[in-house]
Amino acid sequence: MLRVKGLRVEVEGHEVLHGIGMHLPVGEVHALLGPNGSGKTTLIMAIMGFERYKVTRGHILFKGEDVTHLPLYERARRGMGLAFQRPPVVRGVKTRQLVEMCAGVEDVDVDAIARELHCEEFLDRDVNLGFSGGEIKRSELVQLTAQDPDLVLLDEPESGVDLENVALLGSAINRLLERELEPKRDESLKERKIKRRKSALVITHTGHILDYVVADRGHVLMDGHIVCSGNPKEILRTVEKFGYEECARCLR
Ligand SMILES: Nc1ncnc2c1ncn2[C@@H]1O[C@H](COP(=O)(O)OP(=O)(O)O)[C@@H](O)[C@H]1O
Ligand SMILES: [Mg+2]
Repeated sequence: MLRVKGLRVEVEGHEVLHGIGMHLPVGEVHALLGPNGSGKTTLIMAIMGFERYKVTRGHILFKGEDVTHLPLYERARRGMGLAFQRPPVVRGVKTRQLVEMCAGVEDVDVDAIARELHCEEFLDRDVNLGFSGGEIKRSELVQLTAQDPDLVLLDEPESGVDLENVALLGSAINRLLERELEPKRDESLKERKIKRRKSALVITHTGHILDYVVADRGHVLMDGHIVCSGNPKEILRTVEKFGYEECARCLR
């Protein structure tokens, strides 16, 4: 689904990512961990194609195609979608209009999607205007669900959200990623995985969302380098016990 090779990214003339490599296969969910300011947001904004995040070297391959220099909307058309860490308020645009736009030519039931995320009352309000932290995150997910991308990029979906709402977000993310499907009797995990067509890269600082959305692999980003990749549960246990510094040291 996604392959990132030797990616260097500058923000406002300052290099934030110093050569990132990553492979996200079809059907897998990867967690991106790391301390604040390590470059997590920069990485997914560059993958999505926001112009402010300038790729100076390396490549981004999406479904086998080099999209490094494609504009953001072309990447969205090809099936890439992103939920912001801190999305902006958009005055004069109703959430419903934005959700309908996200759906494109598809005929989606906006009210039904909003109902599942307890967002019905926001549909006729300006985008994010006066929304609480949790409401913003839920509204982001309503938009993504309407868009239904193949590659889902989530930037700290649980930040500023209370525990009850993290569970709600978690089940909506699992539905979006087609991970909630009950396995058929005597169907192996391998068979079930083959059916999964979507992939996700989930940034999480606390790891709480991983209690609800199971990640297949985790990556730790520090100072613009991936310092560790492996079992996300194991990585989180190490980080919780020793902090990120220790986590990085084991590779050095
Ligand atoms: N728009 C920007 N202008 C200047 N510096 C930025 C901008 N966005 C990010 N940075 C810098 O890039 C570094 C990484 O930021 P970010 O990718 O947001 O990290 P994270 O998401 O891991 O907390 C930080 O030092 C941050 O100050
Ligand atoms: Mg961030």
